[in-house]
Amino acid sequence: MNAIEQASAHGRQLISAASTLADLRAVESEAFGKRSRLAAMTAELRELGPQERRQLGQELQQARAALEELYNRRAEELSRRDALRRAEAERLDLTEEAWRFASTGSPLAGALEQPVPRGHLHLVTQVRQELEDIFLSMGFEVAEGPEVEDDWHNFEALNMPPHHPARGMFDTFYLKAGQSESVVLRTHTSPVQVRLMESRRPPIYAVAPGRCFRRDTPDATHLPVFHQLEALVVDEGISMSHLAGALDAFTDAFFGPGRRARLRPSFFPFTEPSAEFDVTCWVCGGEGCRTCSGSGWVELGGCGMVDPAVFEAVGVDPERYSGFAWGLGIDRLAAARTSLGDIRELLDNDIRFLTQF
Ligand code: DAH
Repeated sequence: MNAIEQASAHGRQLISAASTLADLRAVESEAFGKRSRLAAMTAELRELGPQERRQLGQELQQARAALEELYNRRAEELSRRDALRRAEAERLDLTEEAWRFASTGSPLAGALEQPVPRGHLHLVTQVRQELEDIFLSMGFEVAEGPEVEDDWHNFEALNMPPHHPARGMFDTFYLKAGQSESVVLRTHTSPVQVRLMESRRPPIYAVAPGRCFRRDTPDATHLPVFHQLEALVVDEGISMSHLAGALDAFTDAFFGPGRRARLRPSFFPFTEPSAEFDVTCWVCGGEGCRTCSGSGWVELGGCGMVDPAVFEAVGVDPERYSGFAWGLGIDRLAAARTSLGDIRELLDNDIRFLTQF
């Protein structure tokens, strides 16, 4: 009896010491199988008388069954644990990079187990979001329009009929679609003004940030793909002083006090009067340098009072309503804020540049 209990205890101990399914399988025979003490004792039953044999035989049978049950429970538990461990290992393996490099046996596979630094939004995206916040807080809504535009929205409704000389201001990318030169990559965000006025009645207080495209040669202040923030206000009794006030409030909110801004008379077909919006150069502070072409000022965008011809094109009554509009260069705003000498750095993808912001 004592011997059976001891053999069982030995078996239980082997079973519970196994920490993986493979370990467990390896001790099965010794715990209660062929090589176990219980099996040896069962073999010795032959030497006993019939009555003792039956009784001890039964007890050995029960001891074996109890160990087998323990074994099965432990096997279940370990197989669950193994599955979890495998899932965990596969989870770590799942990054595409690690998998790709591991499968090539590249030493980079090990390097990828190092923590990977997290990225962040690009400077231009950060500035765009900040601009949206500023104008939302001033009571504007944020609108959007398509980057692929038709001639009507990009030019004609903005008082630039076909062959109008002002189209020359915009070096346009045309798409091979529809009639020749009828589909363009928008050259500015002003077509969003047209879409806003076509789709609803005034009052309208909206800004529209977005990507624009021009066949410009890149230089310190120009990119062929750039971003603008359009503004459109249409209501009764809107005047030029509202435009100046809104730009002032914006300049203070975006740059803080200290930077000077000015409006300089200009011309756009879609505004009358028109002006250009300049700030003091962020590189030389107004002395004159390469970034500001020696003038001490950098143009951030154009603005003006919405031309009555534009109202007529979209069916807004110019006798009742007036409005102002502007288009500011977001990339230049980003450059101005970070004193960036060359706007092309925004697109160079140099990690040493990008991580600064
Ligand atoms: N769309 C003009 C450009 O890209 C900028 C502009 C000027 C926008 C005057 C306006 C505006 O809304 O009123 O050069």
